[in-house]
Amino acid sequence: MPSYVVTGASRGIGLAFVNELSVNSQNTVFAIVRNKSTATHLTALSRNNIVILEADATDAKALNLAAAEVSKATGGTLDYLINNAGGSTMLGLTATDPTPEAIEEDLLLHFKWNTISAVHSTNAFLPLLKKGTAKKVACITSGMADLDVTLQMGTTVQFSYSVSKAALNMVVAKYATELKPEGFVFLALIPGMVDTSSTAVSAPSEKFMAQIMALIPAAMKQFPDFKGPITPEESVRMQLEVIHRWKVEDSGAFVSHFGNKQLL
Ligand SMILES: NC(=O)c1ccc[n+]([C@@H]2O[C@H](COP(=O)([O-])OP(=O)(O)OC[C@H]3O[C@@H](n4cnc5c(N)ncnc54)[C@H](OP(=O)(O)O)[C@@H]3O)[C@@H](O)[C@H]2O)c1
Repeated sequence: MPSYVVTGASRGIGLAFVNELSVNSQNTVFAIVRNKSTATHLTALSRNNIVILEADATDAKALNLAAAEVSKATGGTLDYLINNAGGSTMLGLTATDPTPEAIEEDLLLHFKWNTISAVHSTNAFLPLLKKGTAKKVACITSGMADLDVTLQMGTTVQFSYSVSKAALNMVVAKYATELKPEGFVFLALIPGMVDTSSTAVSAPSEKFMAQIMALIPAAMKQFPDFKGPITPEESVRMQLEVIHRWKVEDSGAFVSHFGNKQLL
């Protein structure tokens, strides 16, 4: 009976992970959300092998309580942790924004949401993962955190988001290094460019969308096979294939849903 924890499970890619994993009745899927009452897409799945727990991924105490609930249900073990919760202010700041206060606030928020959240979550579930059979942790990162791609495509936008996800990649490398002797597999996994609009709670600003759309020609030049955003379902199927086949020898890698450096 493999067990999975997915954070940020109320919508988007996290919801798709829960949906795909819970199709197999052998799996037990613990779906972590900030607010169960608003997680309507998730509650609508209504499968016996989904357990919904509440925790903000930036709140270490809440995550520890969630881990205690998982422990009670599994007898103290967990096989897979998918640190998916994350986000962006979508303010469209670049590194040269003239307001230091705005840059600092934006950076700190992104670090909480995308970097520190994964550390708190991993540490909360680590004692259970140590007793699990798979010992796998996937942290959902972004192609925006790739230095080579940033320089080659000339990507200036999503400044704080990119920096916080690049820091997440280092977090993954540090865990991988420390826990390799215990047989752990850590991955910084890019989900591709995924259209999550069908479960979005609010539309991004026009300025933000214009900045993202402006990236598409450069992305198509860099990745000639790129045909546009994929669905959460397609992304998750590809990501799970990578997670399941990844080996301890390659723990700590930063790869895409293709299992390599093809980001799109
Ligand atoms: N979509 C893409 O193209 C893309 C590309 C690269 C990377 N990613 C990454 O993939 C992950 C999922 O993205 P998505 O596109 O599915 O985003 P999304 O549709 O905006 O969903 C984000 C999810 O994360 C949850 N969340 C955000 N902050 C949280 C917190 N502090 N504690 C608990 N849950 C929190 C949200 O919960 P609420 O419902 O409570 O807000 C929601 O369930 C993120 O890490 C994102 O950076 C996405």
